[in-house]
Amino acid sequence: MLVEKNVPLQPFNTFHIVAKAHTLVRITSAADVVQVLADPVLQAAPKFILGGGSNIVLTGDVKAVVLKVEIKGLRVLEDTPRAWVVEAGAGENWHDFVAWTLAQGLPGLENLVLIPGTVGAAPVQNIGAYGVELQDRFESLDAVDLQTGQTFTLNAAQCAFDYRDSVFKHAAAPADVASGRPAGGEVLRPVGFGLAGRALITSVRFRLPKPWKPVLGYLDIEKKQAQAGVTHPTAQQMFDWICEIRRAKLPDPAVIGNAGSFFKNPTVTPEQCADIIARDPKIVHYQLADGRVKLAAGWLIDACGWKGKSVGQAGVYEKQALVLVNRGVSSSGADGATGGEVMTLAKAIQTSVYERFGILLEAEPVVV
Ligand code: EPU
Repeated sequence: MLVEKNVPLQPFNTFHIVAKAHTLVRITSAADVVQVLADPVLQAAPKFILGGGSNIVLTGDVKAVVLKVEIKGLRVLEDTPRAWVVEAGAGENWHDFVAWTLAQGLPGLENLVLIPGTVGAAPVQNIGAYGVELQDRFESLDAVDLQTGQTFTLNAAQCAFDYRDSVFKHAAAPADVASGRPAGGEVLRPVGFGLAGRALITSVRFRLPKPWKPVLGYLDIEKKQAQAGVTHPTAQQMFDWICEIRRAKLPDPAVIGNAGSFFKNPTVTPEQCADIIARDPKIVHYQLADGRVKLAAGWLIDACGWKGKSVGQAGVYEKQALVLVNRGVSSSGADGATGGEVMTLAKAIQTSVYERFGILLEAEPVVV
């Protein structure tokens, strides 16, 4: 366990916002967490779990003890006629993990390539892209309860996955069933409570079904298929195409600081949608299985004229209005946008979308 003081967080958040952690502990194993909890000073302090920093907006120095998850390890656990099961340490880089699975000949995660962040953060917001969500490939995860030091295992139902949502994003109840669950032992279903800030995820397992089938159907992927003249793509082709699609429309955080989509795509009732279509016939919308309708937040923001606009050094990406960017020079170490500027911009966007469409956009990143 390595405890550091006054640590610059600019390299550890993909927005490249300047802020410091008063205390930062690098967590390389579940045993490190137990050590933190055994330390009288660290144990009593509030804690903030940091993965790849790809879904946070830092609005100042972090006073809580930052637990930076650096737990490594990649392995194949099962290879049966029906599936491969693979496991990754929570501190592994997500994209590198996906690339590793394909290099091992284990397809199934290729639609989720190039999503920034770590393996441990992926279940927190149930990452998704091009018709696949993490929950579609999820097997189980191990975590440590930061209140009790107990390790426990959760299956998909217990993670309560939803669109960009899980049990890890909801506030913890003061006394709940997370305590006392032995690792690998019987797990209790978390009903009506959350584990936000309480569960430090240490490893995640994925079930990759056999036989592999590509998940197609997105217009951008169909265009790539048509260009290549390929009807039945391989997993590697899907990987390459989705990398190209993402690179063409999303900023690379190594070059331009950002946190991916800043807002969730909102869902509305068919009546609300019909009302908006009557006023804005071009609105991009998708019918959901439950009868509700999902609207493209990027389109709503774009329609309000936000593309390319800025507040201070925080801006709306020119090629995709759903992504807010840090216009300061990120990788050079220059100061760039503050978290306050990002949030002022986000609130102005929410207000203008609400005034025009009557829809309140929900931000994806955690504001720290
Ligand atoms: N659109 C515009 N103007 C814009 C942006 C989008 O008109 O500035 C329109 C597009 O033309 C398209 C529609 O909005 O018709 C949807 O855009 P896109 O296909 O790019 O997908 P998205 O809804 O913006 C979601 C995810 C992305 C994921 C893509 C592909 C959310 C919040 N975002 O974006 O996830 O990569 O679908 O599956 O669900 C992320 O979460 O960080 C992320 C990038």
